[in-house]
Amino acid sequence: MTMPRTELIVALDTPTLREAASLLKELDGLPLIYKIGSSLFTLEGPKAVEAVHKRGGRVFLDLKFHDIPNTVRNAVRSAAELGVYSVSLHLSGGEEMLRAAAGEKKRPLLWGITVLTSFDRRSFSRTGFRHGIERTISDLAAIGAGNGADGIVCSPKEAALVKERYGRKLRVITPGIRPAGPGDGGKEDQKRVMTPAQAAAAGADFIVVGRPVLQAADPAETVTRILKEIR
Ligand code: C5P
Repeated sequence: MTMPRTELIVALDTPTLREAASLLKELDGLPLIYKIGSSLFTLEGPKAVEAVHKRGGRVFLDLKFHDIPNTVRNAVRSAAELGVYSVSLHLSGGEEMLRAAAGEKKRPLLWGITVLTSFDRRSFSRTGFRHGIERTISDLAAIGAGNGADGIVCSPKEAALVKERYGRKLRVITPGIRPAGPGDGGKEDQKRVMTPAQAAAAGADFIVVGRPVLQAADPAETVTRILKEIR
């Protein structure tokens, strides 16, 4: 039996497009998806997306939409105009919001955020969610599965649970990745972390890596090592 392939998404969390462009140049030719999030997009907008597309890459637009259904539907329509591969939205925005987004005919893949990987049990319990992290992820994943999401974003620690329950219907995307050994970049604000190999073994279809690549002395070497690890 062949193992399903895990793909690598590199987070282009650079301060400006200049640094993003130089990273894209360094990583040119490697089989990657690029994640453009709120920091780069707020400053540089669609130019950042174009920079990836010009090099033939795919973009995961990680703007984590969370708003009333009509606004999110329009945001997804705008993302479709940009030609991105996928966009993220918070599943806690609810079923109606998700259905509005999923109802767009020509749209990117919709990846639903469950519980951010920067939460631990204690900080999560202070947000007002009544149940723990695992139960909340499971409830939110059910909203995703039942209302048109194409993927679920969760920590690698919950990937196996989501994969087991919804793996046939939904792709699993896991940030919170820290390569083992020296140069792991530290956990910083990420709390629920695993190595790339562990996340792949847990069933992640995509892993998202930011700082361990961005802060590496040789980003292309780091990416190549991670790619080897997940295949
Ligand atoms: O630098 P690091 O590898 O921690 O970056 C992880 C990236 O994944 C960041 O861009 C962050 O915004 C994003 N992300 C996350 N947790 C989620 C969803 C996205 O860390 N649940």
